[in-house]
Amino acid sequence: MLIHLICAARPNFMKIAPLYHALRKEPWARPVIVHTGQHYDLNMSDAFFVDLGLPPPDFNLGVRNGSHAEQTGRVMMAYEKLLLEQRPDLVVVAGDVNSTMAATVAASKLGVRVAHLEAGLRSFDRSMPEEINRLVTDVLADILWTPSPDADENLLREGIAPEKIKRVGNIMIDSLEMLRKKIEGHAAYRNFGLTPGSYGIVTFHRPSNVDNPEVLRQLCEILRAIAGIVPLVFPVHPRTRKQMAECSLLPLMEDTDNLFMPEPLGYATFMNLVFNCAFVITDSGGIQEETSYLGIPCLTVRENTERPVTITLGTNRLCNLDELRNRAAEIRGNHERKPSRIDLWDGHTADRIVGHLNELRTK
Ligand code: UD1
Repeated sequence: MLIHLICAARPNFMKIAPLYHALRKEPWARPVIVHTGQHYDLNMSDAFFVDLGLPPPDFNLGVRNGSHAEQTGRVMMAYEKLLLEQRPDLVVVAGDVNSTMAATVAASKLGVRVAHLEAGLRSFDRSMPEEINRLVTDVLADILWTPSPDADENLLREGIAPEKIKRVGNIMIDSLEMLRKKIEGHAAYRNFGLTPGSYGIVTFHRPSNVDNPEVLRQLCEILRAIAGIVPLVFPVHPRTRKQMAECSLLPLMEDTDNLFMPEPLGYATFMNLVFNCAFVITDSGGIQEETSYLGIPCLTVRENTERPVTITLGTNRLCNLDELRNRAAEIRGNHERKPSRIDLWDGHTADRIVGHLNELRTK
């Protein structure tokens, strides 16, 4: 079975890696990695391949950045050509980035079966580009692998046939467990002169937080104020750095005491910082899940989340900018870890997917 594993942007790599490794062990499976090139910097892409033990991609579509329509269109055009040459038996897409939707549309139109890994998540907020990507991908995919019961319910409510839905759990936790030794072997906090439990981690890259200069300015002021209470490590996403530079906020931020702003970090280094931090402030999707699994308090600066189990069963809390400073000050003193038990978030999701594919293949 020739299986294309599509990856594109940073959050895809840790979803594809465990599945690639599990499929490689199966005599019937021929996994091929297709990188669309949406993320291309060494520290946004290549470093993850090295950390996660992935070989270089078999194909790189070299699409890079552009407007949403340009990026999506370019992936569709480039991937259609590859699909016609290769005719895979299955295309696996992960998450909710533009390339996920683009590869799904290109494959579906050629009658190639598509499986969506991390299907069914919904923020119910169509101003988020990812929500559009999730809706389009899920309506077209032939197999929907979900991480949690809320995702199953969303799909059923949207009229997706129940036999297409298979709950497999959260594959990000597979990567975390696969690399646990490597993660724990680092002491990345030392690079910033910090000790375990004494600092917070910050990540921001959502358009809703960084594209509007006024919002970004307010966010930067709050982060500077929090750094006055507790040290912060803020690996800065390229989109965010660009916006800060355009708004002339970068020098001020870089000159702030106890606010460390490295370039984006590799998976194991970043996770080591998370393992050892007191709390996280973020607008990422995956980090809400990782912190819940590890029992680390997480403040998500968004109005909604497509990952509600991280709130109902985990350590995640939504937070607006006005509340952020006080909420961060409150949680920094609370070091008690309460790892969340969420069904099927156990490091064995890739095995369940392989089992499911084997079942479908031999039916
Ligand atoms: C994309 C995804 C988002 C995901 C995020 C993780 C979409 C719609 N968005 O957002 O869901 O959470 O990835 O990072 O697919 N850039 C670089 N180097 C890189 C990658 C990006 O400089 O390696 C720059 C681009 O040139 C562009 C900006 O960062 O100016 C944004 O990149 P893009 O891939 O369009 O979206 P993200 O904000 O990264």
